[in-house]
Amino acid sequence: MQSIKAVAFDAYGTLFDVHSVTAKTERLFPGHGKRISEIWRQKQLEYTWLRSLMGRYIDFWRVTDDALKYALKTLRLQANDRTRIVLLQEYLVLKPFPEVFSVLQQLKPVTTLAILSNGTPQMLNSIVNDAGLGPFFSAVLSADAIKIYKPYMGVYQLLPANLGFRKEEILFVSANSWDAAGAKAFGLAVCWVNRSNMPFDELDVTPDLVVNNLEQLKNILLR
Ligand code: LAC
Repeated sequence: MQSIKAVAFDAYGTLFDVHSVTAKTERLFPGHGKRISEIWRQKQLEYTWLRSLMGRYIDFWRVTDDALKYALKTLRLQANDRTRIVLLQEYLVLKPFPEVFSVLQQLKPVTTLAILSNGTPQMLNSIVNDAGLGPFFSAVLSADAIKIYKPYMGVYQLLPANLGFRKEEILFVSANSWDAAGAKAFGLAVCWVNRSNMPFDELDVTPDLVVNNLEQLKNILLR
């Protein structure tokens, strides 16, 4: 880790808990909150991959809305546009995982910090500012700049292009194993945050580092 000059984080699932929407989904649809959140996230990811392969980009806000529509239909839940927008807006105030603030605070003095995410700049600015994390980041980069989603290699290229460091000098940190695999295939140094004790995806690449949470990563980087 000596050669690392910058640490770039994925946003959803890595810094921010996508399932923090569950309080609201459960309140509006009692008994279905958890399932809505699970299907919503899974479809959101699938739609980014499918749309990238189809060459039919729409931004992450619209993808997230489409995924929510699908989740509600799957569970045969009726929701008018207003209810759906109320749920969708939860994506603008997702909660960071508990260790995030203190980890960023301790890393900030020793390295350049950034975000690279599929989220739109507006969505990312909203969650970052809502959580008071804005001052920690030198760059918040979005796939929206090139209108195609991770794991397209060009999205990871945004990091060296914008941070001014070589690929192998940038540590990309993601809790999404497919995303960590994409970043590694591109040539970044990669840390996979295995938050829920899962196997790493079988995609012919291996992350440089595996931790269970960002606290562990911080301890390694500051050693
Ligand atoms: C992101 C998704 C992949 O933040 O979690 O880009």
